[in-house]
Amino acid sequence: MTQTMIPSAPKRVFIKTYGCQMNVYDSDRMADALAPHGYTPTQELAEADLVLLNTCHIREKASEKVFSELGRLRELQDEKRAAGSDMMIGVAGCVAQAEGEEIARRAPVVDLVFGPQAYHRLPEMLSQVESRKHLHPSLKRAVIDTDFPEEDKFAHLPAAKKEVMVARGLTAFLTVQEGCDKFCSFCVVPYTRGAEVSRPVSQVLDEARRLVDAGVKEITLLGQNVNAYHGTDAAGRDVGLGALVYLLAEISGLERLRYTTSHPRDMDDALINAHRDLPLLMPYLHLPVQSGSDRILKAMNRKHTRAEYLALIERIKTARPDMAMSGDFIVGFPGETDQDFEDTLDIIRQTNYASAYSFKYSTRPGTPGANLGDQIAEEVKTERLHRLQELVNQQTTDFHASMIGKTLPVLIERVGRQAGQIGGRSPYLQAVHLDGSPDLIGNIHQVEIIGTMTNSLVGRLAQS
Ligand code: 5AD
Ligand code: SF4
Repeated sequence: MTQTMIPSAPKRVFIKTYGCQMNVYDSDRMADALAPHGYTPTQELAEADLVLLNTCHIREKASEKVFSELGRLRELQDEKRAAGSDMMIGVAGCVAQAEGEEIARRAPVVDLVFGPQAYHRLPEMLSQVESRKHLHPSLKRAVIDTDFPEEDKFAHLPAAKKEVMVARGLTAFLTVQEGCDKFCSFCVVPYTRGAEVSRPVSQVLDEARRLVDAGVKEITLLGQNVNAYHGTDAAGRDVGLGALVYLLAEISGLERLRYTTSHPRDMDDALINAHRDLPLLMPYLHLPVQSGSDRILKAMNRKHTRAEYLALIERIKTARPDMAMSGDFIVGFPGETDQDFEDTLDIIRQTNYASAYSFKYSTRPGTPGANLGDQIAEEVKTERLHRLQELVNQQTTDFHASMIGKTLPVLIERVGRQAGQIGGRSPYLQAVHLDGSPDLIGNIHQVEIIGTMTNSLVGRLAQS
């Protein structure tokens, strides 16, 4: 049954996004789905009629943050009710998917709980909440929707309005693939996001064209396993990510393309060749390896060895010699010995990362890793994380320093923090600040790098 909400007085929705870029994209789509029903986004929590927490379940701390936020929201809701107004509260995303009813039980303040596959049904869920509003509190139940439906959520989400997208700027995310069939033994994603689903090629191209028409110059293709993308084209042929980027490269006005997150197993020749052939495909690749030890890689069910990863990077760098690498690492996976950890440090030294994200292993209920013995003591994890981060930070610093004296194309995106400054991104995803006129915003300019700061580069406009 489909209930439609009647457009009513303007209302405000505050969406707080946790976790990955996929959630950032999904939050925008939720805002799009709500817009025809009178909701406009707000950054001010106090004026919100509806608060949505788009949650992340990847690590323990990520989900605990949600419950503490719900505690704070409860106080705000009490204040609002005392003042004669109200506020609905919804929990979306992967914590919602994984914990469902449990959230409503632990936090009765929550009115609706819905997983990543249900965003297009959001208006319908809200009218259900509205219809339960006048019930006695003892009878009120949260509306819960954590099904994995057959229908395609992307096909049901309304296309973003052009004027809304303009406000989103020069860079945009575009989800091409969702879910994961890899089942790494530490990871909840296959359970919270479900099996791998790719969007049809025409849908991706249409959305990309709309974004470019709205002024977007740089698109980042998103997927939990983005390079496992296998869409179907109009002729029914299978199209991998490699072939997809060649098609996207033909869109006139699109200047830069990125994709994340990739799995080493799915880095095929077509995609590697695209890096050789397409200048718009940016030379920055997030390719997590998690560990440098074959024993741990096997226990993690990563389905490749350390030597295979290193050989893959060789091939990628042959295709695109200036490729900057980024990765994810987990320290303290069950059974990780000092030698295993040394192997991880060693693979980091050999790869030489431009940036890397590292985490202490945290047990995720329901994953195979949760049943493994030989858990690593917290202080050992802390010490290993510290050593790993020291190494990676040094590599990042060296990478930034290696840019000094080079001239890089920078997509100028915004005015800087200091008067007279502007800022943008290098091909390697580094933030770059320089003196310049705001008129330069919106285009790529050649910038000579003259210095570095902790997390950014300092440049000056190159003489043209
Ligand atoms: N514990 C610690 N880190 C994890 N990640 C995923 N699951 C866990 C876990 N259970 C990390 C991986 C992944 C990144 C998104 O989060 O490094 O690549
Ligand atoms: Fe998780 Fe592994 Fe899938 Fe990445 S590839 S989302 S780490 S299961």
